[in-house]
Amino acid sequence: MVETIQWVDGAVVMIDQTRLPLEERYVTCRTYREVAAAIRDMTIRGAPAIGVAAAMGVALGVLRASEDGLAAQMEEICATLAATRPTAVNLFWAIDRMKRVYRGVSGKPIGEIRRRLVEEALLVREEDIAICRAIGRNGAVLVPERKTVLTHCNAGALATAGYGTALGVIRAAVEAGKQIDVFADETRPFLQGARLTVWELQQDGIPTTLITDNMAGHFMKSGRIGCVVVGADRIASNGDVANKVGTYSVAVLARENGVPFFVAAPISTLDLTLASGAAIPIEQRAAAEVTHVFGQRVAPEGTVVENPAFDVTPARYVSAIVTEKGVARAPYEESLKKLVS
Ligand code: MRU
Repeated sequence: MVETIQWVDGAVVMIDQTRLPLEERYVTCRTYREVAAAIRDMTIRGAPAIGVAAAMGVALGVLRASEDGLAAQMEEICATLAATRPTAVNLFWAIDRMKRVYRGVSGKPIGEIRRRLVEEALLVREEDIAICRAIGRNGAVLVPERKTVLTHCNAGALATAGYGTALGVIRAAVEAGKQIDVFADETRPFLQGARLTVWELQQDGIPTTLITDNMAGHFMKSGRIGCVVVGADRIASNGDVANKVGTYSVAVLARENGVPFFVAAPISTLDLTLASGAAIPIEQRAAAEVTHVFGQRVAPEGTVVENPAFDVTPARYVSAIVTEKGVARAPYEESLKKLVS
């Protein structure tokens, strides 16, 4: 399986997801500002992977910080990383976790502070892989035999430290001997489905068919799709799910066609401070992602563009939320709280 992000000799090495699948290039970040830039420009993307990158970014920042005024530098490091992408709550979860560790050792010798923060960042990465495997195990039983699983965007090894959430469920179902295949939505405009999901599943030998986003309804109506499994960037306490834009349309189509719609995500993606998805901040990205395809303009000059990177699927369309701690079903106010406690 591909290494999404690693800590190598005091630097953060990530596979460049803007170049895949045409080029397998690794980027080395030596400063926290480089990590922040990599999150912002989507060299690394996907909620759990962003969380791991942020944790490593904090560790890197403190590793390079001077002993004088360390607390102020720590503030600056965390604020810079937090300002990269607003929707995936894993980013803020990871930064808060690193802040807590810092508070626990502040005042200790700088060497010890650095060692603890690097240790914690490595732990965030390691835990993420184990969490994805647990999500996979919990979700595999939900996947119907001899059917097609439809997924949107990339919630795979590349979106996590390894194995994936939605693709973790698919991998675990295949490992359990289920005979399934996958339909991957291409996922305009960034094409995470076409570029990343297909590439990843091909490496595992899982039969995968690429479809454009607007074909999903056609195939759901045909009866071929046994279930939909997607990831999430933030889940509110009522079970509303923010995920890659287009997920909402897929969920509505699934309901209309009687196809179960599953969301696979770690507990760190839950934001139980929010009453509903209406409070989830939605990232707006550059117009060029829509007007251009691989640097080639496809819309006329002066085109007015909207480019929300995420949408919110109301909880009523969600058949189940699969986490590492178990599977939640409606009413989510109760089931999610129970999982967390
Ligand atoms: O803009 P991206 O590529 O970071 O969006 C990614 C998604 O929407 C994923 O589905 C989500 O983060 C879950 S990843 C396990």
